[in-house]
Amino acid sequence: MTRFFTEADSADVVNARMGPDVEPRLRDVMSALVRHLHAFAKEVQPTQREWESAIDFLTRTGQICGPERQEFILLSDTLGLSMLVDAINNRRPPGATENTVLGPFHVEGAPERAHGANISLDGKGESCLFEGRVLGLDGAPIAGARVDVWSDNAEGFYDVQQPGVQPKWNNRGIFVTGEDGAYRFVGIKPVSYPIPDDGPVGQLLARLGRHPWRPAHMHFLVTAPGWQTLVTHTFVGGDPYLESDTVFGVKQTLVAPFERVEGGETIWRSPFDFVLVPAAAGQ
Ligand code: BEZ
Ligand code: FE
Repeated sequence: MTRFFTEADSADVVNARMGPDVEPRLRDVMSALVRHLHAFAKEVQPTQREWESAIDFLTRTGQICGPERQEFILLSDTLGLSMLVDAINNRRPPGATENTVLGPFHVEGAPERAHGANISLDGKGESCLFEGRVLGLDGAPIAGARVDVWSDNAEGFYDVQQPGVQPKWNNRGIFVTGEDGAYRFVGIKPVSYPIPDDGPVGQLLARLGRHPWRPAHMHFLVTAPGWQTLVTHTFVGGDPYLESDTVFGVKQTLVAPFERVEGGETIWRSPFDFVLVPAAAGQ
C-alpha cells in the first residue's frame, strides 16, 4: 500500500519505507531517530530559515574537522551527549572509580617511563607528585596495570596542540604497576583551559551564554588484563570551573587532593587510588 507523506503521520510514513531485511539494531536505532527528530520538529516548529541555519551549522561543523580537529565530538561533548553515552556504558558498583570523557587529546603510543619519572619536559609549571595504587574492589593490588597519563602544560595546551613549540610527549607517559599495584610520577599541577572555541561549537557556546572552559585535570587511562578499562581524570579541588565544566566531565568522587609539600622535591602531591571492576566474560 502506498502511504503519502502527511504532517500527522510523518515519522510512521518514513519508517514504513525500511526494507524487510534491515539489520534489527539498525532498524531500532533509525526508527527511534526518525521518531524523535520528527517529534522535535513538531515541538519547535522551525521556520525554513531556521532549518537552513541548522544545516549551515552542521555543514561548517563537518568542514572544520580534520586529522587534528573533531568538531562533531566537541559538539557531542558540549551538549552532554558524550557524558551520557559514557554513563550508559560504564555503570559501576559503589567503590569503583568513575569514568569520564576521554577527550580528543589522548595519543596512542606514549613512552613507557620508569616509576617516579618526570613527564613535564618543558620545565614549566608547578611540579606535582602523582601517586597511588591500582586496586580491585576488594582492595587487592593489581599488578601489570598500564596507567597512561596526559595533561596540558602550564599554559593550558596539550603538546599536540603546539607541535614544534612543546617537546614531543610533553606531559605524557605510561607507568606499569608492580606487585604492589603502585604508580608514581612527577608532572605539573594542571591548569584550567578552554576547549578549542574558534569554530562553530565555540560560536554556539557564546550564543548560549556559555563559557568554553574545563577545570584543571590530569587524564588517566588504566588498562589491565581481566579488568574493565577505566577512562577518567582527577580534578584539582577549588578550581573555579568545577561546577561549570563545558563538557560536564566532573564527578565529585574524581576531585582529588592536591596537597602543598613543604621542603619536598615537588611543590604539590596528589594521592589517588584507582579501583577497577572485573571485566565481564568475553571482554
Ligand atoms: C579534554 O579533557 O582533553 C577534553 C575533553 C573534551 C573536549 C575537549 C577536551
Ligand atoms: Fe583535558
